Amino acid sequence: MTAPATPSRYSHVTGWGLALPEKIVTNDDLSKTLDTSDAWITERTGIKERRIGGTTKDLAVEAGSKALQVAGLSPSDIDLLLLATTTPDKTIPATSCAVQEALGLACPALDFNAACSGFVYGLALAHGQILAGANRVLLVGAETLSRFVDWQDRTTAVLFGDGAGAVVLEASDQPGGLRSWSLAADGSLEHLLLCDLPGTIVMKGREVFRKAVAAMMAASQEALERAGITIDDINLLIPHQANTRIISTAAQRMGAPPEKVVEVLSWTGNTSSASIPTALVDAIEQGRVKPGDLLLLVGFGAGMTSAGAVLEWGS
Ligand code: UT7
Repeated sequence: MTAPATPSRYSHVTGWGLALPEKIVTNDDLSKTLDTSDAWITERTGIKERRIGGTTKDLAVEAGSKALQVAGLSPSDIDLLLLATTTPDKTIPATSCAVQEALGLACPALDFNAACSGFVYGLALAHGQILAGANRVLLVGAETLSRFVDWQDRTTAVLFGDGAGAVVLEASDQPGGLRSWSLAADGSLEHLLLCDLPGTIVMKGREVFRKAVAAMMAASQEALERAGITIDDINLLIPHQANTRIISTAAQRMGAPPEKVVEVLSWTGNTSSASIPTALVDAIEQGRVKPGDLLLLVGFGAGMTSAGAVLEWGS
């Protein structure tokens, strides 16, 4: 599904926030209980450490609260809370309702699951609601994947981490903000990456790798075309953080130079729905995002889903 932003009402990011658990688990820590090594994990994934702990609600509340603060908004200003997560704290009710209560919001709230593409899906969903009349949407990607990892399985345990990232999207008549998006899903690929209930994450890593590169390129290309720009116009590429080799292969094939690519993977691991907003917030906090910059956000994940979006940064 692709669509350009309607040129009468725009969705700008005006607030952002990050939450990571305090506990750091290094590759050396994992090597004590698994048949693995820092050298293997670093070389094959780019991951050096990951943050573990907390609840999805608490991480989402912390990231969401920071985003409200940066936007200078009070809880009553928010018209909708969207929580992208594959790891809700409970099956019923939605974790977003607990987040809504903790943040003091008075708006509708829902969870949705598009796996690692969730945050980019969420940008498009939020924009749709802004076109329909909402003025401010709080979008959070939050995960506690450590609860669904088999800590005896070296093929997955070394990959994932916990965390949350959030943005406030505000309606504006000023051009910019979300310029375009491209969303896709292919349910025939469910067997490549899944977690039954009850159960732990299982993945066919090599196959996911191959699909991931192709999916990222297709989603990026479609989002760029929809925005009427090329990769050369992009100031920063903010990809899902699953594997540094996936990121560099896709970036190279797309023609994005390494200095334009944002990576936080080495210290976060793969945080699924939280990974793209974490990379976005880190880039902002590092001073890498300037007014007028064009950002290409691109994700892929279980489903399989994939999504790309072009975001024009406001002032
Ligand atoms: O966000 C969700 C999307 N998920 C992803 O994007 C993950 C995509 N896939 C990947 O990132 C990579 O495929 C992995 C990092 C999961 C695996 O890397 P790989 O280079 O594809 O390794 P492999 O699966 O081909 O395994 C190579 C070898 C195997 O041993 P043998 O059969 O050659 O003897 C594995 O058993 O590496 C072994 N291996 C490990 N060795 C040490 C697998 N995991 C480990 C480990 N430590 N942690």
